[in-house]
Amino acid sequence: MSQFFARKPLQMLMDEMAGEHRLRRVLGPIQLTFLGIGCIIGTGIFVLTGVAAHDKAGPALMLSFAVAGMACIFAALCYAEFASMIPVAGSAYTYAYATLGELLAWIIGWDLILEYGVASAAVANGWSHYFQQFIGMFGLHLPSFLTVAPFDFSPETGLPQMTRSLIDFPAMFIVVAMTILLVIGIRESAGFNAIMVVIKLTVVLLVIVVGWSFVKPENWQPFAPYGYGGLSFFGTTVWGDVSRGGEPMGMMAGAATIFFAYIGFDAVSTQAEEARNPRRDVPIGIIASLIVCTVLYIGVAAVLTGMVRYDQIEINAPVAAAFKHVGLRWAEFVISLGALAGITSVLLVLMLSQPRVLLAMARDRLLPPAFFATVHPRFQTPWKSSIVTGIFVGLMAAVLPLRILAELVNIGTLLAFTIVCAAVLIMRRTQPNAERPFRVPFAPVIPLLGMIMCLLLMFSLPWQNWVRLGVWLAVGFVIYFGYGRYRSVFAPNLERFIGTQGVSGSGFPVAEIEQATEDPAPGNPDRPQPPRA
Ligand code: ALA
Repeated sequence: MSQFFARKPLQMLMDEMAGEHRLRRVLGPIQLTFLGIGCIIGTGIFVLTGVAAHDKAGPALMLSFAVAGMACIFAALCYAEFASMIPVAGSAYTYAYATLGELLAWIIGWDLILEYGVASAAVANGWSHYFQQFIGMFGLHLPSFLTVAPFDFSPETGLPQMTRSLIDFPAMFIVVAMTILLVIGIRESAGFNAIMVVIKLTVVLLVIVVGWSFVKPENWQPFAPYGYGGLSFFGTTVWGDVSRGGEPMGMMAGAATIFFAYIGFDAVSTQAEEARNPRRDVPIGIIASLIVCTVLYIGVAAVLTGMVRYDQIEINAPVAAAFKHVGLRWAEFVISLGALAGITSVLLVLMLSQPRVLLAMARDRLLPPAFFATVHPRFQTPWKSSIVTGIFVGLMAAVLPLRILAELVNIGTLLAFTIVCAAVLIMRRTQPNAERPFRVPFAPVIPLLGMIMCLLLMFSLPWQNWVRLGVWLAVGFVIYFGYGRYRSVFAPNLERFIGTQGVSGSGFPVAEIEQATEDPAPGNPDRPQPPRA
């Protein structure tokens, strides 16, 4: 039992940073903020805004964005405190290991795989839609069997139905391209991301500035056609209306849907190990990127619902379609192009974050370190886990429908945020004297508000998502109890499983270090080298 609650000492985390399984420190505050924005503005604002305004919130979508943004800002402040204390790769997983113990750390790490891995698949799906729309403007079309996932769920009945396609080929293609970029190196990837971010910020500002003159204030009436609620407790409606298919409706339900649009700011914390001055720059990167995006989102929601009446908003490409609606075809073209760039940069940062979470988990031996903790000798990137991530994401993007992927991501991420807010409070009690270069202001109020708001949003999602989350966590438990539990640095009978007398201060078993030192594995230069004692 004690292993489940074993906490990783802060010093051990710092020692690992001195080892050779580490990444290059190349990122400054502006690059980190750009990475955050790169991961935030994408499918959520360009695609999900349509369905949220049309079916869930109406013009009250502006408030939905404010509510979801506030939940994220509370959680972001908690992330920032941890990121400044523990500036290593791994994000919420590492924070949980230092505060809540191994079992909860595993749960959150597994949850982060859901957030980054499954969100990447959802975003690649969105990319595919915009790509096909874009080439369609030039009269080009893919064969129908390569256009979407082979099945989807009926919006009316909720039952699965076959499409006429076999795979979503563009979604798979973009995942492969991103994987190659990520294996080559973080510096190149950050530069590519910066260009993409500039393009999409320009487009979002264009939407707000140009669109503003086409706003008709009467379109904002009624302001909340579905009400302000949308809260249900495992299928029982507590506040607000439900749709014919039994899904919650209202401003809160809208907030739970467009929460996806904010996912990504926490990815900045997974880059902590590559930050030049993580204690200062990671909190700046997280909070600055989130504030910029919240303001822009509320602006886009106001313009969109002001340009087109909520029940006439198009679902698939709502922002571009609004400009088509008012006859600005050039703007439709520019916005589609910007959306494509925006979604590409989201995919890049999400896929950049996933291998770093795997790296952190492998360092603790909850996953096989010989594979997941390998850093490429020349590119200095976690190349093997990047490739595994690419395969996993590419396959999901090719065969699974967007809506199911996005909802699953939302509930998983909200759970991770709730745990991080709780962990800040626990850490303040258990390690009151630890150095905290950044402190959440007004604690415990802000962490508590963060937890309450994230839980409210979780209960504003259709209840089926709780079931899917439960299944995902159950699979995680099978892996932990079948593998990680016996090989973790805290496992009581570690030597029985990995044949060693103990573990080094860095968490790597002594035998593995000795073996790697004696046997440099000629012909396999990528074999992980042990940290020096
Ligand atoms: N926030 C990201 C997006 O909207 C995941 O695409």
